Amino acid sequence: MKKQPGWALPNLKDAQVRTTKEAVIEKSLFQIPEQIRLLGQGKKYYLRTYGCQANERDSETLAGILEEMNFTAVEHPEDADLILMNTCAIRKNAEDKVLGEIGSLKRLKRKKPDLLFGLCGCMAQEEDVVAKLLETYRHVNLIFGTHNIHRLPELLYDVMVNGNRSVEVLSKEGDVIENLPVRRFGKHKAWVNIMYGCDKFCTYCIVPYTRGKERSRMMEDILEEVRILKAEGFKEITLLGQNVNSYGKDLHMEGGFAGLLEETAKIGIERIRFTTSHPWDFTDEMIDVIARYENIMPFIHLPVQSGDSDILKIMGRRYTREQYLTLFHKIKERIPHCAISTDIIVGFPGETEEDFRTTYDFLEGLKPAFLHIFPFSERPGTPAVDMPGKVQPSVATRRVAELEELCGRLHGAFCAKAVGSEDTVLFESTLRGGMMFGYTGSYRRVKAPYDRTRINAICRVRFGAMDESHDLMGDILD
Ligand code: SAH
Ligand code: SF4
Ligand code: F3S
Repeated sequence: MKKQPGWALPNLKDAQVRTTKEAVIEKSLFQIPEQIRLLGQGKKYYLRTYGCQANERDSETLAGILEEMNFTAVEHPEDADLILMNTCAIRKNAEDKVLGEIGSLKRLKRKKPDLLFGLCGCMAQEEDVVAKLLETYRHVNLIFGTHNIHRLPELLYDVMVNGNRSVEVLSKEGDVIENLPVRRFGKHKAWVNIMYGCDKFCTYCIVPYTRGKERSRMMEDILEEVRILKAEGFKEITLLGQNVNSYGKDLHMEGGFAGLLEETAKIGIERIRFTTSHPWDFTDEMIDVIARYENIMPFIHLPVQSGDSDILKIMGRRYTREQYLTLFHKIKERIPHCAISTDIIVGFPGETEEDFRTTYDFLEGLKPAFLHIFPFSERPGTPAVDMPGKVQPSVATRRVAELEELCGRLHGAFCAKAVGSEDTVLFESTLRGGMMFGYTGSYRRVKAPYDRTRINAICRVRFGAMDESHDLMGDILD
């Protein structure tokens, strides 16, 4: 496909450049010119989100922008005039799923020739994906990346008014753009970005290439967002970053993430969560703040990736199995009721059966509350692609299954420990059969008979039996 004038295509080499320049923090008020603002009048959009919470939160901004342009949201792609896919590039199977969906949705264009397709998010930042989209998915009208979602109005204008196929993907370190519109998808739980990007460059991971450098929002902007959410009645917020522990380092501020967490806690919103923490720079001050504030939930997602120090080394994770173990136990000692979950990659290049057994035994001894298990996936442009010792997919699949079984046991034991005890639960949704469910601070899932007045409320609950999916049956006490 010949590059058209005005297109900006992704470039993975440019995407990995890191300079010492500070990120620009753009605070000017976001405004959509009048002739663009009316583009969505009478038109419907369907937005589908893949991937992590960062993407969920980006989709809330995309929805906010589209609604300022007078588009209306619909729940089925069949009803839409604009279909927008906010995509994830973390593993190849996630990408194949998106490409399959885009292919199958093409049929809708036969019935509605004016239907527009857009793709954004992390997949748009990849050279080979964009080349493929341009070549073989000719019904895709609009491609933009993670650095320029605020440009959506102008890009849509180019597509809808000028009739162009619009491609604008920037491979740069990235800015911090404040004051974008947001349409929160939840009523009681909200995501709050505290920083963007990642500079860790773990050797398997594409995120530093798709999301740019680590850059923090100003503390005051974050706290103001939390104050507004509290005033709007939100009960729970999750502070988001690829590695929240790095918060503030680029701003050369004192206190870092521990300081931000403490200031957030003082605002008094009922529940505070955060994700993700990298074990490498998890400080004692952070543990201390989590221990001291009741409204910081006792749950930490602390990805280990492997229980074998040699594999950790070639993954570029910057800690050994022993250092992880020390941190894990330090947290447990200081906050005994704190639950810790983790991520594991199986079948990393060079992972022998013995290395895998080491990881298995490590996890069995460690007893995290939950395991997220991923088979290693080669990501274009990352160093792991060229590493020797590829693991057969059938071997990786079997190792995943073994860990799934272990996870079942560990999570079952973790939930069962709560039977007979009391805790608070934020009930959030209804289930079939006249039930509702919610979570404790430590992420145990609890079911109770449906009561409309309890939805979006934090209730004190006593836990009875646990069912086969590890849900606890709750008796509401107050
Ligand atoms: N920033 C977070 C992780 C974000 S990605 C952290 O470092 O903790 C979420 C998870 O996806 C990772 O923890 C890892 O387990 C998994 N993952 C990332 N790249 C992967 C790859 N190439 N193949 C398989 N799993 C991967
Ligand atoms: Fe990826 Fe590592 Fe950054 Fe997490 S810390 S996003 S795994 S590079
Ligand atoms: Fe996926 Fe991008 Fe998040 S690759 S996991 S959507 S940062």
